[in-house]
Amino acid sequence: MSEDRYLTFALGKGRLANKTLELFEKIGITCEEMKDKNTRKLIFVDEKNKLKFFLSKGPDVPTYVEYGAADIGVVGKDTLLEENRRVYEVLDLGYGKCKMCVCGPKEAKELLQHHEMIRVASKYPNIAKDYFYNKKHQTVDIIKLNGSVELGPIVKLSDVIVDIVETGGTLKENGLEVLEEICPLSARMIVNQVSMQMEADRIKKLIQDLKGVLAE
Ligand code: PRP
Repeated sequence: MSEDRYLTFALGKGRLANKTLELFEKIGITCEEMKDKNTRKLIFVDEKNKLKFFLSKGPDVPTYVEYGAADIGVVGKDTLLEENRRVYEVLDLGYGKCKMCVCGPKEAKELLQHHEMIRVASKYPNIAKDYFYNKKHQTVDIIKLNGSVELGPIVKLSDVIVDIVETGGTLKENGLEVLEEICPLSARMIVNQVSMQMEADRIKKLIQDLKGVLAE
């Protein structure tokens, strides 16, 4: 395919995006414009390498990639599991490591062991549903929240939560603990299925270069 076509990257806003830009710098991809912390611009162009980058909300990254609005995305495995989009997951970037867990007060462990009908609050209802229904065969009531999920058991909205645990600090400060581990998480690179065919050479080289620096 022609080198004139731009390869477009969708990056989830926040910590992952900064780490991704640091990683890309190591393989010679820099986007000076994007480093300006005060900019309100949403799309950035690297004319030399024919690349475009845009920042979006994390859960929207797989959507842009599935529909081909972006060729490539970088997003947490949590978002991939939750959104379940038709994209190729091509690389574990190794950063953003954390775990998806069932958490709650110590006493709630009992409820999990006896398969009781419990309330589960989560920002990740699909992950929670898959875990409880398909893996544990436990019928539960799942309540979708949009953040500060640890409040669930504290204000008695739910018995437990399904959430990301990184340092464990938030749980500890709120008197909660990990009751069961669901799966490990980290940042992943995803590719649009058509782009993977049409831009195979450029994308494969990008993956090889990234694998090289990740192995260092
Ligand atoms: C995430 C997650 C936990 C916390 C875990 O929340 O939902 O609340 O980080 O990190 P820790 O184990 O290091 O304490 P985030 O900061 O994304 O905010 P949110 O509560 O609005 O989702």
